[in-house]
Amino acid sequence: MEVIHTVAELRAALKGRQVACVPTMGNLHEGHLQLVRLARQEAECTVATIFVNRLQFAPHEDFDRYPRTLEADCEKLRQEGVDFVFAPSEREMYPEPQEYLVVPPPACADILEGQFRPGFFRGVATVVLKLFNIVQPEVAVFGKKDYQQLLIVRNMVRQLNLPIRIVAGETARAADGLALSSRNGYLSTEERARAILLYQVLQDVAAAITTGNRDYAALEQAAMERLRAEGWLPDYVAVRKQADLQSPAAADRELVVLAAAKLGTTRLIDNLEVAVP
Ligand code: PAF
Repeated sequence: MEVIHTVAELRAALKGRQVACVPTMGNLHEGHLQLVRLARQEAECTVATIFVNRLQFAPHEDFDRYPRTLEADCEKLRQEGVDFVFAPSEREMYPEPQEYLVVPPPACADILEGQFRPGFFRGVATVVLKLFNIVQPEVAVFGKKDYQQLLIVRNMVRQLNLPIRIVAGETARAADGLALSSRNGYLSTEERARAILLYQVLQDVAAAITTGNRDYAALEQAAMERLRAEGWLPDYVAVRKQADLQSPAAADRELVVLAAAKLGTTRLIDNLEVAVP
């Protein structure tokens, strides 16, 4: 496995190869490694990118303290049989102020995560397009854990005619059900024990829908109340259509329940797909 830090070297190394790419911000856990395993099935050459993208963090967010663990990440990727790691510096990715930006449409980017993290998806879409142009993969793998990000990347690829197939990986969970996330590392031991509630709430909303409850607004409200009662600060619990993350009509069947909530100072997100019978 080769670790490459510059665009020029990466382009030279990948010339003529069929590539599957896994974009990450590092601090890799089993969830990322599952995406890497998917990527390895898709192409002869696997590239993982590691770059903590300042553009997708608001000034008050955790850009500075976001865990940077390049050496340990590379060891994990080596063990998974990754061919190349692209770990550019900030200067390499943004040698000049990034004035050309990808602005995803408000209908999908200013709701849910975008409502609470204004500009987040502009930062994500911009860096993902840059990474796609640098790596030029045939396939790129993204996790369903970031459901809205996956939708926005898929829509960008389709609307901009990028010759890239997007593959979605299922959310990896700890034994108790908590979705794996680099930010779980911010939780204290006591918070980690309580963190499972977020997934339990999603499961209960999904179970209510499967057993015939169609009052999605009431289910969302009750779920938020439950989180609040247990000391969380929920941003949203929302029942949406899988296809476009808009509110479902009565006839819609393929739904997803999404939630974001703060436990102490740590903001966690999770989601669960649900098929209405
Ligand atoms: O999901 C992530 O880790 C990031 O948002 C991504 C896609 C690597 C872009 O910085």
